[in-house]
Amino acid sequence: MADDLTMERLRESLLQLRMFTAESIVDSVLEQAVSKDMSFIDVLDHLLGEEVRSRRASTIETRTRLAGFPAKKTIDEFDLSFQPSIDKKLFADLRTLRFVANHENVIVLGPPGVGKTHIAIGLGMEAIRAGYSAYYANSTTIIEKLKRASARGTLDRTLRKLSGYRVLIVDEIGYLPMDREGSHLFFQLVSRRYEKGSTIFTSNKSYGEWGEVLGDNVIASAVLDRILHHSITVNVKGESYRLQARKRAGVPYPPPAKEVGKAK
Ligand SMILES: Nc1ncnc2c1ncn2[C@@H]1O[C@H](COP(=O)(O)OP(=O)(O)OP(=O)(O)O)[C@@H](O)[C@H]1O
Ligand SMILES: [Mg+2]
Repeated sequence: MADDLTMERLRESLLQLRMFTAESIVDSVLEQAVSKDMSFIDVLDHLLGEEVRSRRASTIETRTRLAGFPAKKTIDEFDLSFQPSIDKKLFADLRTLRFVANHENVIVLGPPGVGKTHIAIGLGMEAIRAGYSAYYANSTTIIEKLKRASARGTLDRTLRKLSGYRVLIVDEIGYLPMDREGSHLFFQLVSRRYEKGSTIFTSNKSYGEWGEVLGDNVIASAVLDRILHHSITVNVKGESYRLQARKRAGVPYPPPAKEVGKAK
């Protein structure tokens, strides 16, 4: 066993190298090495393996926090049997993240409550776990962000940042119509990301209605042309999961309208 001075130097070196996990376990690893008669290579493998594992875990945690997901949703938690309209093979293929490696987009279409956001977040979390960068934003929020950047003269920097993510989620396209400036900025974002990274869009509107959403048919077709060039569309047709949960809980849906202004 190493003498105290060498041990102290070893610990100090590990700290200087910021190998905090290795430093915290080095004593017990060396004790194990003696008691279990481990080889040098096993000791090194164990020590460095633990350091790599903990660093990877903390990178995943930080990236997940910075991604801005509105909730933690995993693909494992998604009950496919509730949504038989989703092609199981397609879903399994999405899970492999081949679309990220190939810079393909994913568009999840469907009515409210069918799990579009859940799928988008789940894929984003899976991508982070696989070592990719990901960022979530609602379409309205992202357009507001681009408008602010444009007003400040920092649009190029913001677009560069948003095109740097390997996976960008743009949620809820179609709930609120875009104004002229908004749809122009949206087009710029789509153009910048074209063939560079994967964007996951969710929308309650079919492609034919995007002209209305973007307030301009010409821009909408230019946007769709780019988005759909390398893309996978997931059509979710079933019932709202929220609605089903309410039904199970015996809560009427939609809630009975309040009788406003009625004389008592
Ligand atoms: N198949 C499913 N399995 C498990 N949970 C589900 C499933 N579908 C939806 N959910 C849950 O139901 C809730 C509503 O789903 P989500 O928010 O993803 O719907 P959405 O399609 O994005 O709706 P909206 O268009 O209103 O935004 C979430 O809490 C989600 O986790
Ligand atoms: Mg949603």
